Amino acid sequence: MIQNIRAVTRPRRMDHFQYRDGVLLAEGVSLEAIAEEVGTPFYAYSTATLERHYKVFAGAFDGMDTMVCYSVKANSNIAVVRTLARLGAGADVVSGGELKRALAAGIPADKIVFSGVGKTVRELTDALKAGIMQINVESEPELEALSTIARSLGLEAAVAFRVNPDIDARTHAKISTGKAENKFGIEWTGVHEVYRKATTMAGIRPVGLAVHIGSQLTDTAPFRDAYLRVRDIVAMLRADGLNVERLDLGGGLGISYGDSAGLLPGPAEYGEIVREVFADFDGQLLFEPGRVIAGNAGVLVTRVIYIKEGATRNFAIVDAAMNDLTRPSLYDAFHEIVPAIEADNKAPLLAYDVVGPICETGDTFCIDRKLPALAAGDLLVIRTAGAYGAAMASSYNTRAMVPEVLVREKEFSVIRRRLEVDDLINLEAFPAWLSNNPD
Ligand code: LLP
Repeated sequence: MIQNIRAVTRPRRMDHFQYRDGVLLAEGVSLEAIAEEVGTPFYAYSTATLERHYKVFAGAFDGMDTMVCYSVKANSNIAVVRTLARLGAGADVVSGGELKRALAAGIPADKIVFSGVGKTVRELTDALKAGIMQINVESEPELEALSTIARSLGLEAAVAFRVNPDIDARTHAKISTGKAENKFGIEWTGVHEVYRKATTMAGIRPVGLAVHIGSQLTDTAPFRDAYLRVRDIVAMLRADGLNVERLDLGGGLGISYGDSAGLLPGPAEYGEIVREVFADFDGQLLFEPGRVIAGNAGVLVTRVIYIKEGATRNFAIVDAAMNDLTRPSLYDAFHEIVPAIEADNKAPLLAYDVVGPICETGDTFCIDRKLPALAAGDLLVIRTAGAYGAAMASSYNTRAMVPEVLVREKEFSVIRRRLEVDDLINLEAFPAWLSNNPD
C-alpha cells in the first residue's frame, strides 16, 4: 500500500545539522561517518549549536543583572554541561545525581540552584556542604527539614520559595507545573506567610522567589501572567520589610520541532516579557532554560532494519526505539525525521510509520509521515532530540543503552559509550539460594 504524496518544503533552521552535497552533517562531520564508527542508534550533539543557543538566550537579557542556570535534566551529559560551563553558565539541578554531574562538569557551586519537590535529607546535606548558590524550597515540611539540617551542619541555606501561581501554561498536561492542582511550589496566596516565618528560622536565609509553570511553552502570555503574579508578591514582601534579592524565573521556553505552523516566540520575545515585567526590579534574575539550549542541538541517528508493507500501512522498522527516545510514546511528541542522505527534491514522498523493535505498539516515532522512499540499511535522523532524549533513555527490552557523541567542527568524540548488554547483566546478581544452576 504505497501512496504517493507531493513533496513539501521544510523551513530552514538555525542549527548546525545541514545537508552538504546531499549528506547530512553535524557541523563538519557526516552522520554516516559517525554511524560507521560508533554503530547505531546514537545521539549526536553539535557544540556550535549548543553554544549559539546559550549565547542567544543569555543575550536576550543584555544589560540586566541575570544568571543563566542551564537545566541539567534536559541533557545531563557532563561534556554537554561543560561546554555550557565554559561559556559561563550556571546549573539548575533537581537531584543529588545532577548536583554531582554539574560539579563534575565544572560548574562552580555558587552558580548552582537546586529545585524539586522531593529533596531528601541526603541531597539537602550534600547541597549545603557543596555550598551551592540557592535551594528552591517547595513546601513547609521541606523548609523545616532544611532548617534542621543546616543547623546541624552549622551552615546557612540561601532559600528561594517556589511559587505556584495557578497559571495554565497551555502546554502538554504532563509537563504543566503551574496550576494549583499540580504538585509544585507553594500556593501563591500562602507564600508571604511562609517567607515571613522563614526569616525567623535558624539556618535559613530567604533570598527570593522562584517560579516555573511548565515546559515547551509556545505562547508568551502565560509567562507574563506568572511573572506579574510574582512581581505582586515581591511588592507585598518588600512592603512588609522583607528582603528579596533574587528571582528565579524558571525555564520552559518552547522550541520548534518542525511541525509548528507559525513562528514561535524565541529568546528575544521572551526577553521582552521579562524586561516589561521586571524593569524596576533591583536584584538578580535567574533563568533555568533546558530545551531551548539543548533541543535542537541534538539528533538521534538510527538505521532502518526492515521495510514492512502492512495491510493498511508501511512500516519503517528502525533500530532505535522508545527506550532511546521516549518523547513520542510518552507525550505524543512530534519529531521531524529526515534521511541522512538527502533525497532528490522531485522524488515522490511515501507515507510511513517509523517504529522501533520494542514489543509495544506505543513504540512508534511517527504515524503516516511523508518521507522519501526508504530501504533497509538507510540511515534516518530524528531531529530536535538533544533535550529529554538521552537523559530519559532506558534499557527496556534489554537493549544496550544508547551512546552519545559530541561534534565540534570536524571532530567528534564519544561522550557516553554504549552500555552493552553484558554491562547491564553484570549489574545483576543471584541471591545465595539461586546461585547454582539447576541440575
Ligand atoms: N526548571 C524547572 C524547575 C523544571 O522543572 C524544568 C523542566 C526546567 C527548569 C527546564 O524546562 P525547559 O526549559 O527544558 O522547558 N521530559 C519532558 C520535559 C520535562 C520538563 C521538566 N521540567 C519533555 O520531554 O517534553
